[in-house]
Amino acid sequence: MTDVKHVSAFPDNFLWGAASAAYQVEGGHDADGKGPSIWDIFSHQPGTTHEGTNGDVAADHYHRYREDVALMAEAGLQSYRFSISWPRLFPEGRGKMNPAGLKFYSDLIDELIKHGIKPMITLYHWDLPQALQDIGGWESRETVDAFEQYARLCFEAFGDRVELWSTFNETLIFIGMGYFTGAHPPGLTDAKRGIQACHHVFIAHAKAVKAFREYKDSRLINKKSQIGFVNVMQPHDPISDKPEDIAACKMADDLLTHWLYDPVLKGEYPAHILEIAQRTWGVPEFADGDEALLKSNICDFIGVNYYKREWIAANPDVDNTKINTTGKKGSGKEFGFKGLFKFVRTPESTYSDWDWEIYPQGLCVGMQRLKDRYGNIPFYITENGLGAKDPIIEGEVLDDPRIKYLSDHIAAAESAIKQGIDVRGYYPWSFIDLLSWLNGYQKQYGFVYVDQENNLARKRKKSFFWYQNVINSNGTKR
Ligand code: BG6
Repeated sequence: MTDVKHVSAFPDNFLWGAASAAYQVEGGHDADGKGPSIWDIFSHQPGTTHEGTNGDVAADHYHRYREDVALMAEAGLQSYRFSISWPRLFPEGRGKMNPAGLKFYSDLIDELIKHGIKPMITLYHWDLPQALQDIGGWESRETVDAFEQYARLCFEAFGDRVELWSTFNETLIFIGMGYFTGAHPPGLTDAKRGIQACHHVFIAHAKAVKAFREYKDSRLINKKSQIGFVNVMQPHDPISDKPEDIAACKMADDLLTHWLYDPVLKGEYPAHILEIAQRTWGVPEFADGDEALLKSNICDFIGVNYYKREWIAANPDVDNTKINTTGKKGSGKEFGFKGLFKFVRTPESTYSDWDWEIYPQGLCVGMQRLKDRYGNIPFYITENGLGAKDPIIEGEVLDDPRIKYLSDHIAAAESAIKQGIDVRGYYPWSFIDLLSWLNGYQKQYGFVYVDQENNLARKRKKSFFWYQNVINSNGTKR
């Protein structure tokens, strides 16, 4: 721990939080009328996840949320970012609502508020109801309509108590891995279908934002409420100053960043990429009104999930989109889309055991680049954290590398604020150890350890007490 004491650059109303997602933390996969999600089905198919791990039980937060919220309060959390499991509210994705599911989230929200913790809700963190996948998932406009129904229910039921909302978490991952690399459900490698599915996600987002603002105007939900979108923030840098590496880096920015941020922050796609996509695949297809919907429903804020930067090189050869899911450092192969770009590792950089570069300055650099493109929008750092196998020594979880990682990233967030970037909150991933989608339970991120061998007992890690001090000192003791 660095004992840095200086005046806080973090504003008084800055939110110190932590994050999670329903499928990764809740368990209770079929409890009280919940329907199956695509992850319930996918993770049970052999070979899809690390050692067949799944979220059937996860950290059992569904049954132990009171204990978990008490721990959050003890840590001093000011806000908690969590997602709602759509199939818990609508087992079939639409139509008949499940009152027990609604009650769970209502009780969770009350419990948080009782402890002075502001809820931040993510409506979609990847657990699409399987019933909707069966009719085409995000490729179908019916899923867009179902999402609007689901979002409206959430606004009506929780809008009086929840001020911070985001519609979707990380198109880069659930569309990228769902439709381009095939590692997530629905397990496809089909650019045409992926681009159209992604378009429907943006339309679903815009419709939800529109509904949200109607509710706000009619005072059905709190006037102070805000709605945004959460994206991966992955700054790209060219590995050399060769023109081909610079061009590859620009391509990575266009496809992995601008394509995914522009529609929610500018209300349109980057024109030159749109032209290429429509010429090559004939997608995205716009329905009547899509263009106007996107244009008139820009986000109030952007949530950025920052873990790593990627070094980019031109890629004449590598055709591999498999990532390191074992946690054996250096075991990941080069990742690349042949003919476009590849991600390369350098001996000068530091990496986690899953081969993710540890580059704290990237948090500040990434937001600066977004500010340059989109103006001074409010930012929430909705995820940031270190996945590691934490050592247990004499019964204590001594996660010093996580403390260092978070401390350095908080310093980068502070630099961003000093540069005039409007950063409003910081939500480390994750509050409690939970399921890492493809990497199982061995990739830990939490401040709280969950003992898989001992009835999922909770234990505060060293980082728990460290974060408590960070919060208490408004970021100065870190
Ligand atoms: C983000 C997701 O992509 O990164 C989280 O929003 C995820 O759900 C986190 O767990 C860390 O990724 P991973 O693969 O290490 O679990």
